[in-house]
Amino acid sequence: MSDPKPTYLSDYRPPAYRVTHTELTFDLDAKATRVKARLHMERHPQAKNGAALELDGERLTLISIAIDGQPLGEDEYSVDAERLIIESVPQTFLLDTEVEISPASNTALSGLYQSSGMFCTQCEAEGFRRITFYPDRPDVMATFSTTVIGSATTEPVLLANGNPVERGSLPEGRHFVTWDDPHPKPSYLFALVAGDLEKVEDRFTTASGREVTLQIWVEEENLGKTDHAMASLKRAMRWDEHAYGREYDLDLFMIVAVNDFNMGAMENKGLNIFNSAAVLTHPHTATDVAFQRVESIVAHEYFHNWSGNRVTCRDWFQLSLKEGFTVFRDQCFSADTNSAPVKRIEDVSFFRTAQFAEDAGPTAHPIRPDHYIEIGNFYTLTIYEKGAEVVRMLSNLVGPEAFRRGSDLYFERFDGQAVTIEDFVACMQEASGIDLSQFMLWYSQAGTPEIDAHGEYDYANGDYRLILRQRTPATPGQYDKQALHIPVRLGLVGTKSGRDLPLTLDGESLGSDTVIHLREEEQEFVFTDVSEAPVPSLLRGFSAPVKLRFPYGREDLAFLLANDSDGFNRWDAGQRLAMLALDDLIAAHRNGVEKVMDTRVVEAFRHLLNAEIDDRAVLAEMLTLPSEAYIAEQQPLVDVDAIHAARNFVKQRLATALRDDFLRLYKANDSDAPYAPDPDQIAARGLKNVALSYLMAIEDEDAIELARKQFAADHNMTDVRHALTLLTHSSRDDIAEPALKAFGEKWAHDPLVMDQWFAIQVTRPQPDVLDRVAFLMKHPAFSLKNPNKVRALIGTFAGQNRVNFHRLDGAGYRLLADVVIELNRLNPEIAARLITPLTRWARFDETRQDLMKAELERIRAEELSPNVFEVVEKALA
Ligand code: PHE
Ligand code: ZN
Repeated sequence: MSDPKPTYLSDYRPPAYRVTHTELTFDLDAKATRVKARLHMERHPQAKNGAALELDGERLTLISIAIDGQPLGEDEYSVDAERLIIESVPQTFLLDTEVEISPASNTALSGLYQSSGMFCTQCEAEGFRRITFYPDRPDVMATFSTTVIGSATTEPVLLANGNPVERGSLPEGRHFVTWDDPHPKPSYLFALVAGDLEKVEDRFTTASGREVTLQIWVEEENLGKTDHAMASLKRAMRWDEHAYGREYDLDLFMIVAVNDFNMGAMENKGLNIFNSAAVLTHPHTATDVAFQRVESIVAHEYFHNWSGNRVTCRDWFQLSLKEGFTVFRDQCFSADTNSAPVKRIEDVSFFRTAQFAEDAGPTAHPIRPDHYIEIGNFYTLTIYEKGAEVVRMLSNLVGPEAFRRGSDLYFERFDGQAVTIEDFVACMQEASGIDLSQFMLWYSQAGTPEIDAHGEYDYANGDYRLILRQRTPATPGQYDKQALHIPVRLGLVGTKSGRDLPLTLDGESLGSDTVIHLREEEQEFVFTDVSEAPVPSLLRGFSAPVKLRFPYGREDLAFLLANDSDGFNRWDAGQRLAMLALDDLIAAHRNGVEKVMDTRVVEAFRHLLNAEIDDRAVLAEMLTLPSEAYIAEQQPLVDVDAIHAARNFVKQRLATALRDDFLRLYKANDSDAPYAPDPDQIAARGLKNVALSYLMAIEDEDAIELARKQFAADHNMTDVRHALTLLTHSSRDDIAEPALKAFGEKWAHDPLVMDQWFAIQVTRPQPDVLDRVAFLMKHPAFSLKNPNKVRALIGTFAGQNRVNFHRLDGAGYRLLADVVIELNRLNPEIAARLITPLTRWARFDETRQDLMKAELERIRAEELSPNVFEVVEKALA
């Protein structure tokens, strides 16, 4: 087999033929589903006369083909593994095809497949071509009419996009439903679901008075787990009306929960399909984190109805046009609904850990890549999260009013069209009058920009001189980078007053919190009339997705932690302070010298634990140490063992010094009020569980007793899971095993809880965990065919159990590679994602580098899917 070839953005050409209307009929059968397609087609006015018609199609058995009712002869068309070509077609015509496909053998979960006995589809990005021959590209938009035929007993429910217009029974116990979707859409938004499902129904009245029926379809046993998703959906619908003036546009909106799904969820028009983990919640089965995740994913998919569906992408290089914008929208929604500062802290700490690592690794790519081999590999943190950061910068640059005018213009001007990132930015530029040409570089340049900042206060004349220097490191294929337009939000905090000082720049007074624009490689900003020596608070709210270095002393950081008016930077100062202490301890561990705890960190924590803090949710974040992954991201060479040891050392020392404070914090936030996923309760549980983590770091009898009691009380999953995790991670097997066993037996029937049971065990720091991973892979609740299980067991082990994954004998790497090799055949998309930790070899010592590369080589020797091929090639390049 020859190597798969890349697709280039510069090769984009408009389609020669359009589909104006698509009629589909599915006759469902697990092994032999028949799909009839009637495509109403016409040649594009600009296309040349006589252009051949090319349709995408994979794994389809062609049964019949006709144009305008005339069957085609063998010599009038050709079919290979990827497409069907008809050399000569009229200007306008009807194309009829019938194909046979096998949903039961579709383990890739792309196209039409079966999940727990039901039929469902996943078409983004290129799954529709596994259903029927079609111009499977987002710039072909058609109205759809879909008839689904199934067994009345095993598929009583038959769903597709749009509105149901006809239903009836057929001979031999079969029945059908026909659905009409009046909104032109690309094929990737097509969806069909058929099975034995139950629904929960609600109603929503839009701002302009349209009555919408809302349905969530689940397996019967999950009927009690939809309340939160439904409430979230209604909040999201209302929010989009207020924040963006966007209303829903059909009479029916459906969500379906499926167990086997590659991603979180999918925004198919009128029929969103969700990974069950992203929609089902119950206080006893889902944690606060899961409740919040469901809320944000329900909102995200709903928001796509405008940012993605009504206005879609011209081609897949524009993916961030819909994803970056929609993530930004869901982030703002969650911030408005919950604690805004905590939402920002959570998003940024995840971003700086995972996206920074991606941007620094061999698969680094711009938000708009210029080529790809497999688009399925580009649903990345860069496209989604960095894309969202870039939209956030735009909104801050132009300001909220112009941003709203710009988005209104975008939705109005391009409604029903497939457009580009330039089209979006042009609307923002038009609405604001601000020149965004330099800003466009954010879309084409990969890598995380680094800013080196220096400041100097001149006591004599009261000037504060700030020098900013930017540089974006080289990334694969991009060696020279240009200076970006970087908005830096800042304040100067007076060391005497502890207050933000008034800012005057070039004679203009700018209040006490402002945004300066870094556009040059190096730029100097002189603030005048600064009445006292300040500590600068830079990049407030993480105003740009960059790494900012400033030579802060520990006193400066302790000062900002206590005084910064920006909640985000107060938290960040604490993280920076902890990082300085951790750096010393990592060095001490590596050099074999005794570790000494920085008392400033202890005192800063003591202060936090005893000060009047109004925002308890932020406090919980401030008391949380940087994760091992984040610490690793800050080190030039990652020493996993030293990081683990240093972080544990800090935890233990803090716990010993502040034991009574943590106990008090625990008791003050312990409550048996009925569970609600509201911000107050979530903050209280967060604080209580942070306290318990510290107490368990000493593992004395009192702490163990608290954890056991919290587990046994069985009040809600957040508390139970946290207690079980701490017990499982403790050195005391006598307490871990009984708890794990009880939990595993109690929840054996619930796949989503079993996922958590897997994840808890494989993060154990003890070295025997590898045997446990191997053992759990044979557990009846585990299956390589279910992506949630693979993520919970293998993904969690490789991504979060750093000391054991990076074992010096290479056993962790070997285990991951074995799984990747097997999944390469079953589910290439999941296999390719799973390799990520191995691709980061360059950050480790030579021994580990060699071991990791050897596993990548072993994978490369297999017959690879394009997905895995692309990732492995880049990782070994
Ligand atoms: N478009 C989906 C989302 O962001 C994600 C997705 C991509 C789902 C590809 C399935 C396949 O909401
Ligand atoms: Zn999305």
